Amino acid sequence: MTTELFTPHNIGTCTIPNRLIVPAMVMNLCTEDGFITERYIKYMEEKAKGGWGLLITEDYGVNEHAKGYRCIPGLFKDEQIEGNRKLTETIHPYDSKISAQIYHAGRQSRHLVNGNVQPVAPSAIKDTFCLDMPKELTKEEIHQIVKDFGSTARRVKESGFDGLEIHAAHGYLICEFLSPFTNKRVDEYGGCFENRVRFLDEIYAEIRKNVGPDFPVQVRISANEYLLGGRTEADAYELARHLDEIGVDCIHVSNGMYASPIEKQIIAPMYTKHALNMDVAEQIKKLVSCPVIVTNRINNPNMADTLIKMGKADFVGMGRGSLADPYLPNKAKEGRMENIRYCIGCLQGCEAGLLNDDCATCLVNPRVGREYEKELTKTENPKKVMVIGGGPAGLMAAETAALQGHDVTVFEAKDTLGGAFKSAAYPLGKGELSTFVSSLRKSLDDLNVPVLLNSEVTEETIRDFHADAIIVATGSRPLHLTIEGIDNANVFTAEDVLLGKKDIGFGPVVVCGGGEVGAETAHYLTQTNQNITVVEMQNDILNDMMPLSRQCLLGYMKETGIKVITNAKVSRITENAVEYTDVNGETVSVPAETVISAFGYRAYNPLEETAKKYCSNVQTVGSAIKAGNALTAVREGYEAALKL
Ligand SMILES: Cc1cc2nc3c(=O)[nH]c(=O)nc-3n(C[C@H](O)[C@H](O)[C@H](O)COP(=O)(O)O)c2cc1C
Ligand code: SF4
Repeated sequence: MTTELFTPHNIGTCTIPNRLIVPAMVMNLCTEDGFITERYIKYMEEKAKGGWGLLITEDYGVNEHAKGYRCIPGLFKDEQIEGNRKLTETIHPYDSKISAQIYHAGRQSRHLVNGNVQPVAPSAIKDTFCLDMPKELTKEEIHQIVKDFGSTARRVKESGFDGLEIHAAHGYLICEFLSPFTNKRVDEYGGCFENRVRFLDEIYAEIRKNVGPDFPVQVRISANEYLLGGRTEADAYELARHLDEIGVDCIHVSNGMYASPIEKQIIAPMYTKHALNMDVAEQIKKLVSCPVIVTNRINNPNMADTLIKMGKADFVGMGRGSLADPYLPNKAKEGRMENIRYCIGCLQGCEAGLLNDDCATCLVNPRVGREYEKELTKTENPKKVMVIGGGPAGLMAAETAALQGHDVTVFEAKDTLGGAFKSAAYPLGKGELSTFVSSLRKSLDDLNVPVLLNSEVTEETIRDFHADAIIVATGSRPLHLTIEGIDNANVFTAEDVLLGKKDIGFGPVVVCGGGEVGAETAHYLTQTNQNITVVEMQNDILNDMMPLSRQCLLGYMKETGIKVITNAKVSRITENAVEYTDVNGETVSVPAETVISAFGYRAYNPLEETAKKYCSNVQTVGSAIKAGNALTAVREGYEAALKL
């Protein structure tokens, strides 16, 4: 179906071989003083191997204190050129182009990641997330930063890049000048549009002076900031026309700044509709003569192809899509859609990694950022490997082992794959989670790995299999607390309810446990039941959920009228009520026709010791060790297979 994606198109003088672009993504894989590492080069090379038309580097600081994350590279001194030249020379033998994104983080930085220096901004207004009060830039400082952009651009060109992207989006310094939300200046850099755009105009002119008229220079903008008094689409159209007039080679349409609402965030969560910027990109495309890139929540090549066919944009950026599967373009080109590992929008590996001041990674692709450690080539010493458990950890272990040429068999006790991840796709907004297990299944099929369903492993199975290595990935089981009435006929596990094994009536429902599973199950049930209460022992719910997704779900729970009771320890379940002890030690009763047990999960590991009796190479991974974190489980499955 992909008819448009694999046609070349120009950005200025540079011919991009296809329409799939990796937008800039901070990975935190470089050095604190801004030097490229072998690790970063390998990470980028994997994408070039995977067939992306244009790779845009992460945002390079234009001076020593311009960065917003600890370990991003820069091109603010000549010594940094050598490493970048190595990067461009690594990419160019493939059919990919590479551009550098350059930026100044402005107020969206912290002294902690930035050499202990106070952030700067057009006006002294704190960002709601970074929380360091920025210093208002003087005009002299503004002029210096303009020069820094120019000299960085010169180094970009000298490093052999095919172009550069000025980062004027996402609430960083240039965006802060553009937006009346953050720019309250009354000099020639603030006030009307012409004044707010002056900083960008001067930067563009300085860059052109340094790189000449033919070097492709594109600009990334936030088309809407979704903030009271922030820039909106109408402002974006005006800006796009202006950029076209001053001669930029391409406009990259994104959205948001750190302060924007969660569902309109720069890195939109799974609850956000796909391709949220497509309509504004289309309007911009009608207004300008240069090509347009659209990005955010596009994770599927057929959707990308359709957007291009519809005239929404000339290129499609897929950031997380490229983390989840660096080989997405090649797979799409070969029509192997089922093999694509789609980004599921969970934010658990990528954004959460950065929020924790760590490297970005990916839940569905634990190899990302670790490509430098080991090539997945065929081993000369293939082993007979038994994988016990067909959840994400076991399947990832099996795939990674099989890719290295091991002789792998997966045993799964149930009649379906996915473990707890299967039911995790049922809550509202989470359907895409199924793609992960489904693509692993397809991959194992292609690798001729036997996957034995309904195969409960016993001591005899292990003894008779004669494995050289065993990976135990038996996952977790719901916690079964010793509470009076827990075995009553009206009590069901969240998993059974989500999987449709139990039908819930219209009467009052009490969900015991306000973690992610309990809260999501409650929200799921609001489709057919309007009387739902969540009872949680801690003083808040959803403490185990990724913070940004958590905020969304909290909002949905409120909207749908789910009642939440915290600091409440369930003490007894009857045929028509749940009793709990409140903070004062009082017993309180809530009516309940149905009770859903979502107290959490416990590790389930009945086979490790038995496995060790028959095999000297046994590794236990994922929730079989500690319940509850798919990111860790998948990573451990991958690592176990590397260690075989
Ligand atoms: C880990 C991570 C780091 C990012 N860093 C940058 C960055 O350095 N510069 C930038 O313009 N956008 C950055 N972004 C935003 C992406 O370029 C992209 O706009 C966003 O992820 C939404 O697109 P997607 O749904 O295709 O991922 C980052 C996104 C992620 C996931
Ligand atoms: S961690 Fe989740 S959101 Fe981030 S790239 Fe991977 S699948 Fe997508």
